[in-house]
Amino acid sequence: MKVIIARTLPAAGLDKLKARFDVACGGLPLDQGWLLRHARGASAIVADPTVPIGGDLLDLAGDSLRVVSNFAVGFDNIDVDAVRERGLRATNTPDVLTNATAELAVALMLAAGRRIVETDQIFRRGDWAGWEPEQFLGHELAGATVGLVGFGRIGQRVAELLSGFRARIVFADAHPMDEAAARHGAQRMDLAELLAASDYVSLHVNLTPQTRHMIDAAALARCKPGAILVNTCRGGVVDTAALVHALRDGPLAGAGLDVYEHEPAVPQDLAALPNTVLVPHIGSATRTTRDAMAELCADNVIAVLDGGEPLTPVV
Ligand code: GLV
Repeated sequence: MKVIIARTLPAAGLDKLKARFDVACGGLPLDQGWLLRHARGASAIVADPTVPIGGDLLDLAGDSLRVVSNFAVGFDNIDVDAVRERGLRATNTPDVLTNATAELAVALMLAAGRRIVETDQIFRRGDWAGWEPEQFLGHELAGATVGLVGFGRIGQRVAELLSGFRARIVFADAHPMDEAAARHGAQRMDLAELLAASDYVSLHVNLTPQTRHMIDAAALARCKPGAILVNTCRGGVVDTAALVHALRDGPLAGAGLDVYEHEPAVPQDLAALPNTVLVPHIGSATRTTRDAMAELCADNVIAVLDGGEPLTPVV
């Protein structure tokens, strides 16, 4: 059976697939032409957040195709309706990247709140004239209200990590999440309430038609003056133009971002602002986590091609 890897996969998963199947990798960067040429006759396609998977590609693969295995927890790059309509399976890599992503969210809260990047740059430029009593004042997590938009695995792990910081946790989620709320001492609110109450707002939702631009100009206008926005989920959840406005003219004091609307383009308006911390989609980028993702991605392919249920299905 033929397994097509649209770009590359860490050896922890690749070697498992090579031991069982005829594997071809497109390599980096993504070459759509290669993918279209090689998809025909594939039993599985391994994709990632940068690889759009639509009905056309599934049809091109033909009757042999069984599964699209995404090397990511997010699956907004996959047309899940097209997968479902064709009776195929699609899988993602949840759980294994929960901690790495949550740790990055906390890192971005601290970096934006304590102006780590801004002051690092001032210092490196030689523009620091010495300690002053009211210089570079930032925000502490202790005593702050942290609003988690989305209280799934990653949102809950952020709450757990923050317990040592003595922050108050509130969350907005489509589901009541009563048990998790009790476990983390977190209070559920609707999004508008959460935005008005939070000193830090951290986003942990899937990108769907419902969540696209969930944080738009109206939502940002509800934020507390001096609030900090952190986004480690998907860039499309935030309206970038509205965010730039809110960072320039208020109410936001800062933002820590890992994801962007038009990756890999660097949003110049955000880059020009000193109150942003911008990192290039590194939420799950640790050796341990990427290896675990690769293994799960491969195990999903193997499970389906062996005729079983995928371990972590999205369809
Ligand atoms: C990465 O962006 C992921 O969804 O895992």
